[in-house]
Amino acid sequence: MAGDWVLGIESTAHTFSFGLVDGDGKPRPSASDTIRPTEGGIHPREAAEHHVELSTTLFNKILSENDLSPADIGVVSYSQGPGMGACLRTGAAAARAISTHLDIPLIGVNHCVAHIEIGREQCGCDDPILLYVSGGNTQVIARLEGRYRVLGETLDIGIGNMLDKFARKHGIPFPGGPVIEKKALKWLEANPNPTLEGLELPYAVHGMDLAFSGLMSAANKLVSQGVPFEAVCWSLQEHAFAACIEVAERALAHTGKTEILLGGGVACNQRLRDMSSIMCEERGASSHCPPRMYCIDNGTMIARLGWLEIKHGRTTSLVQSGIDQEMRTDQSPISWP
Ligand code: ATP
Ligand code: FE2
Repeated sequence: MAGDWVLGIESTAHTFSFGLVDGDGKPRPSASDTIRPTEGGIHPREAAEHHVELSTTLFNKILSENDLSPADIGVVSYSQGPGMGACLRTGAAAARAISTHLDIPLIGVNHCVAHIEIGREQCGCDDPILLYVSGGNTQVIARLEGRYRVLGETLDIGIGNMLDKFARKHGIPFPGGPVIEKKALKWLEANPNPTLEGLELPYAVHGMDLAFSGLMSAANKLVSQGVPFEAVCWSLQEHAFAACIEVAERALAHTGKTEILLGGGVACNQRLRDMSSIMCEERGASSHCPPRMYCIDNGTMIARLGWLEIKHGRTTSLVQSGIDQEMRTDQSPISWP
């Protein structure tokens, strides 16, 4: 008889990751590996090859780290979208193989919703406004009538993608976001009371939406004019994060909700976390951030969402188990409280 653990497989882009939740939905840290090209961006086919090569290793690793055998797995959950087609297909294929081999149910889940649900589980917040900031996505989300509705989002590239591209142009390999954070901190250490004078960039807010490519071009221009790179990193973070926090604050005001939950890889950034806390404090709301290992892409969040979906009666048959590169946050019905 199969056990009651849920295995989650994440493969939307650069990271291949296996995670687990137990029969009560309680998460365990993931076994993951991220492809880091020495030059250029992530190539979908190369990332997919990376994922295929690592699937057996990561599967064995997550089992041995938790002292489990394949028979303890009762459900396999995988990211059905959105993401890079070639990468998504590797995760779906691994999930189908495990499901068929162990004769256990399969569940395809929405990657964006998984970022939200692991955050809710970790932070214990009830009905938050979500600021989902990752490489590919930048969205302000609220739950309304059985869906996570997108109240505002980027009109061009994701904020993390913008940080990575800016970094890459200046010789920093993927992922650039954490390096920009360090450079900005270094600038702050040398300039404890910085001003934006000479470091102004365009502001990325358009109503409830955001846009980052103009900001990136302007930051590149500052560097080419000889402004110190670390100063530009600081200014870029200040402008991009303030724009996200402004839209999140307006979402709080419009909906009357009182919690902010951060999620996605860029939510690892301490400055963004601090800005969110300051904004929430000023308006009597609360700001919540999951641990960093659950902000970046991870299999555990896929397992957690799979656990919720199965508990509420949904499974994915083999014929439905294709991928959906363009899956939207508000496409998936949310039936749990
Ligand atoms: P999604 O499919 O949800 O868009 P993703 O593929 O972008 O996800 P994530 O792991 O959620 O993957 O996010 C990765 C992004 O997070 C990268 O752009 C990376 O630069 C950024 N990031 C990670 N840590 C930091 C940090 N400390 N500061 C800023 N950005 C960060
Ligand atoms: Fe992600």
